[in-house]
Amino acid sequence: MNNSAYQTLGFESIAEGIYLLTLNRPASLNALNSETFKELAHALEQVAGNDEARVLLITGAGEKAFVAGADISEMQMMTAVEAMALSQAALKVFRQLELLPIPVIALVNGYCLGGGCELALACDWIIASENAVFGQPEVNLGITPGFGGTQRLSRLIGPARAMEMIVSGRHVKADEALSWGLVNHVYPQDRLMQEALSMAELICQKGPLAVHLSKQAIVRGRDLELDSACQIESQAFGLCFSSDDQKEGMTAFLEKRKPVFKGV
Ligand code: HXC
Repeated sequence: MNNSAYQTLGFESIAEGIYLLTLNRPASLNALNSETFKELAHALEQVAGNDEARVLLITGAGEKAFVAGADISEMQMMTAVEAMALSQAALKVFRQLELLPIPVIALVNGYCLGGGCELALACDWIIASENAVFGQPEVNLGITPGFGGTQRLSRLIGPARAMEMIVSGRHVKADEALSWGLVNHVYPQDRLMQEALSMAELICQKGPLAVHLSKQAIVRGRDLELDSACQIESQAFGLCFSSDDQKEGMTAFLEKRKPVFKGV
């Protein structure tokens, strides 16, 4: 599933079931251009169609940035129609990312600004290095966020903190991002990948169907009212009992051994 034909992305398998997507335009701090969105859509299709894939990690090339936003040089002369088309294309790809059947962890290793922050927000959770810097600085450029930031940031950290970040454009460092619940963990930069791998390996030991259905219930349920959302959970729970993995998981517990899950 590795694809060396990409111009703006690295995409590789780094351990059994674990894939790494690297935004790879370090000269412009991995800014997202229209090619990136096409390549991202293609890579995500590969992940979604691969039964062996269990966890996806996303990071930025180099030690300075995850992604410093959408490519400003590409946007500078856009018409309103072109800007809206860019926004629509990005929203589609980020939703594709959010709905992947497997967990996606963003490894934020430096600047995570504008469209970069919106990309990280479309992942299932964020871990950050100590030098990470988050922000929605679009107001500095005379524009609003356009890749979902006003919505996903508000939902994750609450409207007041999202409002402060978006209307002030100020940078939020890793420790503050941690205290706001924007990131799950902060690590020294040289430990970020190892910590992500440990977490990914832990997830790989679990029942794949249960992981998939748990993610789906959270992602599909979080924007619904409680009764409908709990129905998604109830159906997921019931569906697990049609799987060999449920029989294996419970039998293994009762036999005091480790389960061997097969994903069916
Ligand atoms: C294009 C970018 C870029 C970006 C950095 N670069 N961010 N190019 N688009 N978003 C380029 C710089 O032009 C420079 O290229 C090189 O990367 C290194 O950046 P420097 O500015 O020299 O580095 P530094 O002084 O360390 O400052 C780092 C920084 C700053 C604080 C991250 O680069 C910055 O503020 N970048 C813009 C961040 C931003 O506004 N993002 C939001 C974009 S709008 P050269 O060729 O000079 O070396 C957005 C909207 C999304 O994301 C929704 C749209 C619909």
